[in-house]
Amino acid sequence: MTADAATRTAAALSIGDRQIELPIVHGSDGDDAIDIGSLRAETGLITLDPGYGNTGACSSAITYLDGEAGVLRYRGYPIEQLAEHSSFLEVAYLLIWGDLPSQSQLDHFVAEVTHHTLIREEMRHFFDSFPADAHPMAVLASGTVGMSTFYPDSQNIFDADAVEVTINRLIAKLPTLAAWSFKKAVGQPYVYPRNDLGYSSNLLHMMFAVPSEDYRVDPTVAEALDLLLILHADHEQNASTSTVRLVGSTHANLYASISAGISALWGPLHGGANEAVIETLEGIVADGGNVQKWVDKAKDPNDTFRLAGFGHRVYKNFDPRAKIIRSAAERVLAATGADDRLFEIAQQLEDVALRDEYFISRKLYPNVDFYSGLIYRAIGFPTNMFTNSFAIGRLPGWIAQWREMMGSKESRLGRPRQVYVGPGARDYVTIEQR
Ligand code: CMC
Repeated sequence: MTADAATRTAAALSIGDRQIELPIVHGSDGDDAIDIGSLRAETGLITLDPGYGNTGACSSAITYLDGEAGVLRYRGYPIEQLAEHSSFLEVAYLLIWGDLPSQSQLDHFVAEVTHHTLIREEMRHFFDSFPADAHPMAVLASGTVGMSTFYPDSQNIFDADAVEVTINRLIAKLPTLAAWSFKKAVGQPYVYPRNDLGYSSNLLHMMFAVPSEDYRVDPTVAEALDLLLILHADHEQNASTSTVRLVGSTHANLYASISAGISALWGPLHGGANEAVIETLEGIVADGGNVQKWVDKAKDPNDTFRLAGFGHRVYKNFDPRAKIIRSAAERVLAATGADDRLFEIAQQLEDVALRDEYFISRKLYPNVDFYSGLIYRAIGFPTNMFTNSFAIGRLPGWIAQWREMMGSKESRLGRPRQVYVGPGARDYVTIEQR
């Protein structure tokens, strides 16, 4: 921001020979905004911004990102430092409660989350009733809203104690729901949580242990999963977070709001991209490994194909999460001994795309999803479980954003307007006369 922009307090808007002033709101870092709250009342006009690329939906003190400089911070802390030093549950606490916890605060939070990991036994039948090939995201979204049936206290969205227990239950139980959706798909017995394990280790245990064998969590793998969850934990007003806020703005309970966020995350333009990346890489290998051919396909204006894992609405330089994930992928592949042809292809693809004028001029760089799928794959996750894991990671961010909205004086029912372009008023025509 220029010094001039930093001191501006109002923007002038001319419409014909009328001029009005709209206040400028200053952020502590990053974008400032023109407050258009009085625009319609004063001018009869609204703004039009499909995809909301220029629209700030709220003020938020949770996550800062600078897409041009490739900066991402949670509550002020750089993602690189959190990735190196923190744990997922500590990051969850930071996002939700606003600051890094003291040791006793962290111990209390971890104990609360750990003691809520079981889901209600009746929910076993819930899993039984889905077809075996159900997509785990569908099961996770349904299971999440389904939990509100067991916890009616979650309706008390203005009761701080009820909200806190709902938060702890959600963070504790989402891995159990996710792992059981996988067990259902592979026809194995559901594995109960083990509260002596850490958060990520417990998820791995519930996914990969079977009653007939001893299963030991590989610490390198658990560490890599924890890292992925940290990198996914929040990303300001993305599609799923905006969904959580919008549903939450109706005063629906937290389970309902989070379930809606999970559904939004499922799409291949959002969290589902990590699944699409692996499908693309597998397609390239099956097609003989001709990377250039697939890059050309992505550039072809007559082909709807896009290179999944490339491009971002906000990052126009590089995605800092992708950098961290790429080196983690190298470590995990080395540790698990996975001979991964897909990793080689991914590196070639990145190389070719980053030297290609099409990608350079459109500022399309690898995003968080480009390498995350390769780590999930090396860990042993089937492709359709990747986005489930993303949802577990994003959960603290959704919760933090929901809490912030519920406590903010500026929040009101989310209800965009439209520019109507349909037919004018016309009289009903009976079916015989049509
Ligand atoms: N491959 C080929 N061309 C692309 C790609 C891509 N991955 N992404 C954007 N473009 C082109 C697009 O066709 C357009 O070209 P033109 O100007 O000639 O019409 C230009 O780049 C701008 O694209 P856009 O769709 O207007 O940009 P957007 O900000 O609306 O879209 C995006 C952002 C993430 C949806 C898009 O880059 C994309 O579809 N990427 C692939 C899916 C993906 O990786 N999604 C995960 C995003 S990060 C994690 C998350 O948010 O969950």
